[in-house]
Amino acid sequence: MNEKQKSNKPFVKFASTPAERYFLRREASFLRNHTFSFVPRFMSFSETVSGSALLVMQHIDGVTLRSCTLTAKERRDLIADLRGYLQILHSQGFIHGDIKPDNILIHDHAFSPVLIDWGAAQAIGEATSRHKLRQYSPGFSHPDLIFGRSSASIWWDFYAVDRLAEWLESNPAI
Ligand SMILES: Nc1ncnc2c1ncn2[C@@H]1O[C@H](COP(=O)(O)OP(=O)(O)OP(=O)(O)O)[C@@H](O)[C@H]1O
Ligand SMILES: [Mg+2]
Repeated sequence: MNEKQKSNKPFVKFASTPAERYFLRREASFLRNHTFSFVPRFMSFSETVSGSALLVMQHIDGVTLRSCTLTAKERRDLIADLRGYLQILHSQGFIHGDIKPDNILIHDHAFSPVLIDWGAAQAIGEATSRHKLRQYSPGFSHPDLIFGRSSASIWWDFYAVDRLAEWLESNPAI
């Protein structure tokens, strides 16, 4: 059992606006139904009559990739790990949908990335029209996502990982 699997510390994500609630509901639904080593474990989800929502998940002790210092080998390993994770995720019929430095936590104890922010996760093939509030991340999101074309594709995740690899290479100090 690794450090990540042992942690029972909770991390709480809160939503108050309708758009935040929509994404938090989707994130809760994904986490509740999927257990992967690279995904925080689901703990609970609740909504109040006043319209706020609370998702409790496993706390990952670490920092996001954006504020991390990596060697060249760690950068290569990270990209290889992410591609491996995506193959597992895609084989289960889902995409992450918003891969970027802010949505990757690097674990303190072991050099293992954890993907967070699962509100944009979609079933492969799901029509984008069914996901009207979809957000995108300039510099990382596939053009299909930005222009609202097509249905959810594994290539959206692979495209984002390619942009991430370029971003890592262009930030040698990171
Ligand atoms: N499971 C977790 N364990 C520890 N920290 C987490 C966890 N999930 C998220 N965080 C922290 O909270 C931040 C925001 O989380 P997340 O990316 O899921 O939300 P967001 O919708 O993008 O929110 P924001 O708009 O504030 O960036 C992350 O950058 C990270 O620092
Ligand atoms: Mg985020």
